[in-house]
Amino acid sequence: MDQPRLTPYFYDIFDASLPRLGPGDAASTQKAIDLLRAAKPQRMDPPGSSGLRILDLGCGNGAPTIQLAKHLDGTIVAVDNREQYLAELRRRAVAEGVSDKIRTCLSDMRAFTMEEAVFDLIWSEGALFVMGFQEGLAACRKLLVPGGLMGASELTWFRPDPPAECREFFAGVYPPMVDTAANLAAIENCGYEVLGHFALPESTWLESFYCPIEDRLRTLQNKYAADRAGSEVIDAIREEIDIYRRYSNWYGYVFYLMQNR
Ligand SMILES: C[S@@+](CC[C@H](N)C(=O)[O-])C[C@H]1O[C@@H](n2cnc3c(N)ncnc32)[C@H](O)[C@@H]1O
Repeated sequence: MDQPRLTPYFYDIFDASLPRLGPGDAASTQKAIDLLRAAKPQRMDPPGSSGLRILDLGCGNGAPTIQLAKHLDGTIVAVDNREQYLAELRRRAVAEGVSDKIRTCLSDMRAFTMEEAVFDLIWSEGALFVMGFQEGLAACRKLLVPGGLMGASELTWFRPDPPAECREFFAGVYPPMVDTAANLAAIENCGYEVLGHFALPESTWLESFYCPIEDRLRTLQNKYAADRAGSEVIDAIREEIDIYRRYSNWYGYVFYLMQNR
């Protein structure tokens, strides 16, 4: 698909008002926080400190960011390259009473730098793919203190030899996808120690992410009925959802937890 021409349609569909902008849910974010806390309690709740310095890369409209703010002591820099998402994140942070802990930053994550940028914890749910998972891990490591922690979810093959239709679909939309073992090896190669990993449940795709999008597609299909490009985008997203419903045993998101060595 010709991405730049179609980008406005994607933004219209993936509107800031959606509950979230990628697969995931509060329970999975919490499970990842709890795993890190169990593995490295002193790092997650450092005694006598002024709190963690946290970076959320590709934060979107802030579903994970707000969960982090509610359950961790510290401050969060929330980075995304779409202002509409950051505005919604700020609105939700106020509503949830955590706005004093979050600072939004409109930036391309590939160019993100901050003066004296050092973080104790970096989070990225479904967004490191923008840089490439391994390249993203390497970039994040430069922003982490020694011993700093990271949690990131990434699209991952669960089993070898997926059916041809599923394999061909991802050859078109996300060719770099690899399996869990290869991602764990990439994490170690980048200079991290793996602290844990788990696959996100199907409900994080369907109930939390795809069902709200399907509602939105039903609303927008009339608007784009006479618009060939808009209809093309709607069909492509419906195909993606259909692929997931039929092949969710073969791939999904895996949450990876790690520590900078
Ligand atoms: C799949 S969404 C995940 C959002 C959020 N982490 C969540 O779980 O709901 C990916 C996010 O990355 C953001 N993004 C895409 N390209 C980016 C870039 N080059 N720099 C910063 N953010 C980017 C998108 O705007 C979107 O909010």
